Amino acid sequence: MTQNKNQHGTRSFDWSGKSVLVTGGASFIGSHVVDRLVERGARHVRVVDDLSSGTVDNIKGHIDSGVVELVRADLLAPGATDEACRGIDYVFHLAAIHGGRGYVEMHDAECGRNLVMDGLMVKSAIDANVDKFVFASSGCVYPNYIQQDISKELYLTEEMVGPPYDSDHMYGWAKLMGELALQSWHRQIGLRSVSCRLFTVYGERGVENHAVIAMIARAFIDQNPFEVWGDGTQIRNWTYVGDIADGMVAAAESDVVDGTPINLGTMERTRVIDAVHEVLRYTNKKADIKFLTNMPTGPLNRVASNQRAKDLIGWSPQMKFFDGLHRTIDWYFSTKEPEVVRGYFGRMLTERGESKPEPAGAAKASGKRS
Ligand SMILES: NC(=O)c1ccc[n+]([C@@H]2O[C@H](COP(=O)([O-])OP(=O)(O)OC[C@H]3O[C@@H](n4cnc5c(N)ncnc54)[C@H](O)[C@@H]3O)[C@@H](O)[C@H]2O)c1
Repeated sequence: MTQNKNQHGTRSFDWSGKSVLVTGGASFIGSHVVDRLVERGARHVRVVDDLSSGTVDNIKGHIDSGVVELVRADLLAPGATDEACRGIDYVFHLAAIHGGRGYVEMHDAECGRNLVMDGLMVKSAIDANVDKFVFASSGCVYPNYIQQDISKELYLTEEMVGPPYDSDHMYGWAKLMGELALQSWHRQIGLRSVSCRLFTVYGERGVENHAVIAMIARAFIDQNPFEVWGDGTQIRNWTYVGDIADGMVAAAESDVVDGTPINLGTMERTRVIDAVHEVLRYTNKKADIKFLTNMPTGPLNRVASNQRAKDLIGWSPQMKFFDGLHRTIDWYFSTKEPEVVRGYFGRMLTERGESKPEPAGAAKASGKRS
C-alpha cells in the first residue's frame, strides 16, 4: 500500500533484527499485518494459526520467500502458546474465535473461549520476556447501551469503556478482559503492551461473514431480492484493512507501552442501506431490497473517534470508504466464481468457515473447538 507512506516515512524503527509473532497471521487482517511488517523490514515473522478461518494462501508469498515461518497449531492446546512465544521479541495477537455479526451473536460460548486463549498468550509472552504485546481488540468492547440512538452524531472515545460495562456479547467481553489484563500486567510487572480497538474492517481477503463482503457477494451472485439484515439504518465506520494494518504496526512502534487502548477506525459515518446502494450502483446490478428485521444487527450507531490514534501513534486512516469499497469489489469480482460462492454463502453468514463446524458431540469428545 502506498497511501500511508508519509506516516511511515516519519517513523524509524528497525524490524530487521526482531523476531515477530503474529497469532492468527493467516487471517484476513493478520495477513495484512504480516504484509506491513515485511514492508517495514521484518525478516523473521512466525505465524501461528490453526487455519480454522485463516488460509495459507493469504501469506503464501512470504512463506515462499522464507520470511514467514508458518506453524499450524491450536493455541488452546496445552503448551502451544509457550511454543509460539519462544524466542519472540514482538507479539501481535490476532488469533480469536470470531466470525461476523451472525456468528458472534449465535456462538457466545465459543467466543468465550477467547478468554482462555488470550490469558494463555499473555502468560506465555510474559514467561518469554517479550519486548511488547500488541493486542487486536475490538469496537465490541464499547457499551451497547450508548450505541442505540441513530439520531446522535456519536463518536466513541476510548474512555467510554468503563462502569457500567456493557460489551457486545461474550466476544466483546473477552476482548475487554484481554485489554484489562494487559493493563494490570503493566502495573504489576511492567509488561509493555498496547491494545488496538479495530472497527468493522473490510478489504481484500475479507470473507462473507462480515457485512461489506456479504453485500458484495449478494451482488456478485445476483441475489434478488437482495437481503439486508435490519432496516438498513444502522450506522458503521467501515475501515479499510490496509489502514488497520498500518495502525497496528504504528502502535507496536510507538512509545505506548502501558496497555492503553487505541481506536483504529475511520470517523466516516455510513448507513448500511447507503453502502448497499453503492454496491449495486458500482456493480451495475438491479435488485429489490428485502429487509430482514429479525436478523442480528448489532449496535445501531457505532463510529469511532480516532483522535487518540492521531495524538499517540500518529495514525489516521487514509482510505475513504467508497474508494476502499470499489477496490474491494474489484478484487472480489476478479477472484471469485459465482457458483462456488452460491454454494457456501448462506452458511458463512452465521458460521466461521465454509465447511465447519464438526458436530457438537465430536468437538466435545476431542476437546477441540469446532
Ligand atoms: N474483522 C473485523 O472487523 C474485526 C474487528 C475487530 C477486531 N477484529 C479482530 O481481528 C483479529 C483478526 O480477525 P479477522 O477478521 O482477520 O479474521 P478471523 O477472526 O477469522 O481471524 C482469526 C484468526 O485466528 C485463527 N485462529 C482461531 N482460533 C485459533 C486457535 N485456537 N489457534 C490458532 N489460531 C486460531 C484463525 O484461523 C484466523 O486466522 C481477530 O482477533 C478479531 O477478533 C476483527
